[in-house]
Amino acid sequence: MAAELIDGKEISREIRDELKTRIATLKAKGVTPGLAVVLVGDNPASRVYVGMKEKTCSDLGVFSDSHRLGVETGQEELLELVRRLNSDSRINGILVQLPLPGQIDEAAVITAISPDKDVDGFHPVSLGRLVIGLEGFRPCTPAGIQELLVRSGVELSGKHVVVVGRSNIVGKPVAIMLMQKAAGADATVTVAHSRTADLPAVVRNADVLIAAIGRAEMITGDWIKPGAVVIDVGTNRVEDPSRKRGYRLTGDVHFDSARQVASLITPVPGGVGPMTITMLMANTVLSAERVLGKG
Ligand code: GUN
Repeated sequence: MAAELIDGKEISREIRDELKTRIATLKAKGVTPGLAVVLVGDNPASRVYVGMKEKTCSDLGVFSDSHRLGVETGQEELLELVRRLNSDSRINGILVQLPLPGQIDEAAVITAISPDKDVDGFHPVSLGRLVIGLEGFRPCTPAGIQELLVRSGVELSGKHVVVVGRSNIVGKPVAIMLMQKAAGADATVTVAHSRTADLPAVVRNADVLIAAIGRAEMITGDWIKPGAVVIDVGTNRVEDPSRKRGYRLTGDVHFDSARQVASLITPVPGGVGPMTITMLMANTVLSAERVLGKG
C-alpha cells in the first residue's frame, strides 16, 4: 500500500493559527512581535525566500523591518546594522539571509547577532544550548521536521532515526534535537553523509529517515525499510523543459519508488519547505513572549 503523505502545508497552517492566537495575546498586552530581515546582494533564490518571510510577517501581523543592502556591502557595515538591530527594542528576531557575498565572513555575522534575537538558531550559543538541552531557539528547518513528526503521531522514543547529511543548518542540529532526552525525541540517531560506507545499508536500518544531503532523488525505494517514515528535506532544481520556468523541484528521495515502501512520506514541494518559515515566525513570537515575561 502506498505511503500516506505528511502534509506540510496543512500542519504549517495549523501552527500559524496557533501563532495568531499568541500574537493577539501579545498585542493585547501592547507588544507587537518584530522581525528584522536583512538581505545582502541579489541572489535570486534568497530574494524569493526573503519576500516569502516578509509576506508571512504581514499575514500574521508581525512587524517586519526590511533591510536590502548592495552586493558590495562591507563586513563592518553589516556588523554595524546587526549591532543596531540588537539594541532596537521593536525587534525580537534578526534574520540575515544566507549565503552572504564572498567578502563577508558569515560566521562573524552570525556570532554578532544577540543570542536573545537569534530566531534562525544558528548562533554558537543557540546550538550549544540545544546540545545540552537548555531552552533557546531551535533552528527552523530541524524544528519544522520535529513538528511534522510529532503532529503526524510518529512515536520517536527508542526508534532508529537515520539522518543523511551533516550540514550545520539541518543535519547536525536535527540529529541533536531528536536524540535529546525529551518529549518528541528520545530516538537513537545515526548521522550518515557523503563519505559513509555502504550508505544504502545504513539507510535500510532507519525507522525514520531524514534525507538532507542535497542530491536529487539519490535515495530510492529499495534503500528504505518497509513501513519507515521518510522526511525529505531536499529542494533540488532539476531541468524540465516541459515546465514554463524550465525546472522542477525534487527531493533527495525518489518519491514514486519510496512511496511504495514507506508508511508516511513528505512530498517535495509541500512537505518540509512550508515549515521553515512557520518555525521562524514561531521563534519570533517566542522571543517577544520572553521579553514580555522578563518585563
Ligand atoms: N538560507 C537558506 N536557508 C536559510 C535559513 O533558514 N536562514 C537564513 N538566514 N538563511 C538561509
